[in-house]
Amino acid sequence: MYVCLCHGVTDRDIRRAAEDGCSSVRQLGKELGVGQQCGRCASTARAILRETRNND
Ligand code: FES
Repeated sequence: MYVCLCHGVTDRDIRRAAEDGCSSVRQLGKELGVGQQCGRCASTARAILRETRNND
């Protein structure tokens, strides 16, 4: 599913970034552009990051 429509980023992209060590929405923004435009995706992105970390 698309999390960030502005940059075409999916939940899978975010999970992959999290597994590669990305630990904050700010960092995600730098790497994938998440939250850099309208910002609507930020809370969902944060939830996915958290969820991925908890599954470690
Ligand atoms: Fe992610 Fe707009 S949906 S910045």
